[in-house]
Amino acid sequence: MKRSSKIVLGLAATAGLGFAIAAAFAHPGGMGPGMRGHAMGGPMAGHMANGDAAFPADMGLVHDMLQGHDKIKRTVRNLPDGIRTVTESDDPQVAQSIKAHVASMEKRLNEGRIFNLFSPTLPVLFDNKDKIKTLVAATEKGSAVTQTSDDPVVVAALQAHAVEVSELARDGMAAMMRAARANMVGSAHR
Ligand code: HEM
Repeated sequence: MKRSSKIVLGLAATAGLGFAIAAAFAHPGGMGPGMRGHAMGGPMAGHMANGDAAFPADMGLVHDMLQGHDKIKRTVRNLPDGIRTVTESDDPQVAQSIKAHVASMEKRLNEGRIFNLFSPTLPVLFDNKDKIKTLVAATEKGSAVTQTSDDPVVVAALQAHAVEVSELARDGMAAMMRAARANMVGSAHR
């Protein structure tokens, strides 16, 4: 087994709720037909990624960024109507993953093809994609992103999502597991 798979599975077993994470990373060919219909249709439906054609590549980039999270530097500035973020790495591989992730996510948002595991804010952003203006600029070592909206609910979601990204960059897989746990608890009480 690859070392990365072992880490993911180990974390999943420890937390006892990492099924979706482990499955997503362990099957980079997609979520598989079984998971599309059932696991994704449960209480977290609408919060999860669909197993579309771009899913394996997007998952690979997330994996690379989580593995290299301690090499990521990120600043977030809240604007009255949105956010301005700069996410970079001195490691060329991680910098490339950041650029590719941001480009792919911008495309997904434009086209309304959600990519999500455990974020409560991403469904809000995708539901309101037409109210979001996104400006992406490549920097030498990553991406600078400005996102604005006229809708205060969307602005709050943009700012909350920026915090989620910062936590993923700071804590890596531990942040992902926290989000998974929070999502499970939230679903049970809905
Ligand atoms: C270390 C991990 C990650 C990093 C460094 C990262 C980085 C980013 C950055 C820089 C943006 C642009 C918005 C912003 O700067 O706040 C972004 C947007 C996005 N990310 Fe990530 N991300 C990570 C993990 C994830 C994960 C785990 C998912 C979902 C499975 C995800 C899905 C998205 C989506 C859907 C957007 C578009 C949201 C929008 O444009 O409003 N990201 N990410």
